[in-house]
Amino acid sequence: MNHPSTYKPGTAFERWLDRRLPIIRFGADFMDFPTPKNLNYWWTFGAILAVCLVIQIITGIVLAMHYTPEKNLAFNSVEHIMRDVNYGWLMRYVHANGASMFFLAVYIHMFRGLYYGSYKEPREMVWILGVVIFLLMMATAFMGYVLPWGQMSFWGATVITNFFTAFPVVGDPIKTLLLGGPAVDNATLNRFFSLHYLLPFAIFGVVAIHIWAFHTSGNNNPTGVEVKDVKKDTVPFHPYYTVKDGFAIAVFLLLFAAFVFFNPNGLGHPDNYKPADPLVTPPHIVPEWYFLPFYAILRAITFNIGPITSKLGGVIAMFSSIIVLFILPWLDTSKVRSMRYRPVAKLWFVLFVIACVWLGYLGGQPAEGVFVIQAQIATAYYFAFFLVILPLLGVFEKTNPLPKSIADSVLNNDKRGAATPIAQAAE
Ligand code: HEM
Repeated sequence: MNHPSTYKPGTAFERWLDRRLPIIRFGADFMDFPTPKNLNYWWTFGAILAVCLVIQIITGIVLAMHYTPEKNLAFNSVEHIMRDVNYGWLMRYVHANGASMFFLAVYIHMFRGLYYGSYKEPREMVWILGVVIFLLMMATAFMGYVLPWGQMSFWGATVITNFFTAFPVVGDPIKTLLLGGPAVDNATLNRFFSLHYLLPFAIFGVVAIHIWAFHTSGNNNPTGVEVKDVKKDTVPFHPYYTVKDGFAIAVFLLLFAAFVFFNPNGLGHPDNYKPADPLVTPPHIVPEWYFLPFYAILRAITFNIGPITSKLGGVIAMFSSIIVLFILPWLDTSKVRSMRYRPVAKLWFVLFVIACVWLGYLGGQPAEGVFVIQAQIATAYYFAFFLVILPLLGVFEKTNPLPKSIADSVLNNDKRGAATPIAQAAE
């Protein structure tokens, strides 16, 4: 939605600059962006994510000033940050818990997109770029976790990179390339540090294109009905959504601060306070909570499928669980975007969220007995949701009537819209 510019250069300097580099116009048009007037709080997570990214980059840069990427010094350099560097403990706790908060926000953002059909035409690129960001985030978080060179850092890196060897022919060379040698060692630590510093800037770049994409298509909204009349259906982004996003960011930061100041190690694993020891394998090697659903999918495949070994099957299932997101816009065949008006899809969606949370729980349990069977059921449902349920629902589901427009939904007929006397008076 390219809206006409309303910017008027006020001073001689602004007029001069506007003819040469219309950067103020760009900022003004950005703030003026016509945004659907009915966005709810689920739409504040994009802004929250932007804040998370900035926090991670700033605290990360400060940590890198005192951190040493060398296998005999890394663990102690982190202890030095915690004990000796002024506010080093704060920087580290904000950064470590910031990763968790970032993933919490991104999962909410993604489920929001799923529920309201934000991946559907014409927002396929917004969604696909989102999945690219998600992949980059996972790579960044995985490598960051290795840097303190604790027991979980070392063994997590060993287990995960080992899975690549399941691929025939290319598997071993890929693992060697990732590790910089035959096993997790100093070369691994160095390249992970280098990439962990680099990737957030790549994420930053993709986020800029992500934002560009939805500024081209316009935001989706809870009704999933497109903007018909810019005057009636939208409000300028500023001040309406700067204020709303600002409030949501403040609440989110309160939760963030609660972790940092009251339970800073609650989400981490105590074994990572033991220096890495290649000779002692911890009894349970578990990734951080945000990787657990994928870890459960990886370990759910305990059987060979023809020539595909269970190990390779697990790796393929894990990668496929993300690859499937790329083609989601073409798998969901429903003409109706928002699940608000899709009574049957809504139920399957709730089950999908439960399956994901359940997979997260199972990823933290030992891969044996009843846990494996449950993980297999939840994994089967995960894939069935995308590959069977959504394609079929598009054909067979009877959807509820859509509101005529966003304004109509807000003011009158949509029971879930705000049909308050004030809103009616405003009309
Ligand atoms: C660093 C990570 C990310 C940042 C900073 C970010 C930022 C944003 C922002 C500011 C918005 C507009 C406000 C909103 O709708 O909440 C947005 C919209 C959107 N994002 Fe993201 N995003 C990120 C990751 C992702 C991921 C991982 C996905 C999906 C895989 C995704 C999918 C979408 C979609 C589909 C929309 C359009 C929403 C709509 O208009 O309904 N984003 N994003």
